[in-house]
Amino acid sequence: MTELTPHAARVAGLVDLHGARRDALLPLLHDLQAAQGFIAEEDIRALAQALNLSRADVQGVVSFYHDFRTQPPERPVIKVCRAEACQSRGVEALLEALPADLRDRVALETVYCLGLCSVGPNALVGGQVHARLDAGKLTKLAEVAQ
Ligand code: FES
Repeated sequence: MTELTPHAARVAGLVDLHGARRDALLPLLHDLQAAQGFIAEEDIRALAQALNLSRADVQGVVSFYHDFRTQPPERPVIKVCRAEACQSRGVEALLEALPADLRDRVALETVYCLGLCSVGPNALVGGQVHARLDAGKLTKLAEVAQ
């Protein structure tokens, strides 16, 4: 019996959780990226095999959605909502208040609406939404982001 690589073992565990169904591909990709920060070529192969899809099918989905990465991010990623509601709640001032050394330490990416407009400004870090951000919370997120 061959031992599974860490990527193959992670894919197998997630497929057990979601089921080996084609319509589980997007949740599987989201969970993989949340767990490891990117979707590796090995993950694509394992997902294709588990879901009875071609590698091109899985690769096509990964490349279609720009949020999926195929390489580990160079810096921790903080996705900051800059849509209207978060704009009106002061997200731009928050970003300007972030110390320069922390701004260089993380990759600040813009997203447009995380679906929690009434509790903004919001940011997404590692698949978790952080709401009601203020300068202190955003600074803390940037300090601890991995
Ligand atoms: S506008 Fe920011 S969460 Fe909707």
